Amino acid sequence: MPKKYEIVRKKVLTPDISSISVYAPLIAKKALAGQFIILRASADGERIPLTVSSTEGELVTVVYQKVGDSTMTLDEIPEGGCLTDFVGPLGQPTPVEGVERAAVVGGGLGCAIALPVAKALHDAGAKVDLIGGFRTKNIVILEDEMRSACDDLYICTDDGSYGFNGFTTGKLEELLKAGEQYDKVYAIGPLVMMKFICRLTKQYNVPTIVSMNPIMIDGTGMCGCCRVTVDGQVKFACVDGPDFDGHKIDFDETIARAATYKEFEQRRRAEHKCRLEGMENG
Ligand SMILES: Cc1cc2nc3c(=O)[nH]c(=O)nc-3n(C[C@H](O)[C@H](O)[C@H](O)COP(=O)(O)OP(=O)(O)OC[C@H]3O[C@@H](n4cnc5c(N)ncnc54)[C@H](O)[C@@H]3O)c2cc1C
Ligand code: FES
Repeated sequence: MPKKYEIVRKKVLTPDISSISVYAPLIAKKALAGQFIILRASADGERIPLTVSSTEGELVTVVYQKVGDSTMTLDEIPEGGCLTDFVGPLGQPTPVEGVERAAVVGGGLGCAIALPVAKALHDAGAKVDLIGGFRTKNIVILEDEMRSACDDLYICTDDGSYGFNGFTTGKLEELLKAGEQYDKVYAIGPLVMMKFICRLTKQYNVPTIVSMNPIMIDGTGMCGCCRVTVDGQVKFACVDGPDFDGHKIDFDETIARAATYKEFEQRRRAEHKCRLEGMENG
């Protein structure tokens, strides 16, 4: 039997993105689409919130991108190694009831989060269009998995190297203009992408759910770090979300807050790379 929080399977999806399947039977039993876990890679490590991408038996799979110090430390744990903590499921599941026709839009890594949402909608009987956007062809992830979680998959690349030539907003607009009648659009990805998807769906009057991933610390509604303004009211993404009505989110405020620690994060990332290079050279 695997050990507690053992990384039973690890897959490299692109040079920057990997998935790990972690032995966590209680979470695997309960987690629903849209929920997340918080892990620590080491006892003195930062908490890392990651969305549950899928569950399978007693395993929980999360997909992570190496963006800074903590995710780089996580990436150093090999298959068979164990995480210090793995807590969840946290947050509210994505609402999928009563939806017959849906478009799910994922941007880059957001496709890993869009995947379980599309699957949950599809399993509940909805007809689902899944639009996945990437900068270029060689960083497309989870294509087969996405295809089997929807009725129609549209891959978009910013440089036109694969699929639709352009942004996810362009593809969604094309579908809306062609007369697609969605009950709901779900958008998961960079804040700017979600902001412009919402601007578009507002014109077409299509209710839109977005997944907000502000910086989180405790993940239980205690610290106030993850606050977002929704319809003029303060909400905590960790307990009230991460999903919210996209037409009511103050995106400009969230985008400004997300930049707060940029300088510190860049310094830590550079220090981490220096430490790694030092180990390789020594
Ligand atoms: C609910 C939720 C779900 C998420 N799901 C995923 C996922 O499935 N896959 C994935 O790769 N990433 C996901 N993230 C983002 C992930 O948590 C951060 O990329 C990670 O914590 C970065 O840590 P770092 O030290 O490597 O990078 P840092 O250098 O510290 O930060 C890089 C960027 O990551 C974000 N970030 C940093 N710390 C946190 C934190 N404590 N909470 C949230 N964001 C942070 C910020 O935008 C920051 O600019 C999710 C975040 C939230 C809140
Ligand atoms: S992370 Fe502390 S309140 Fe949400």
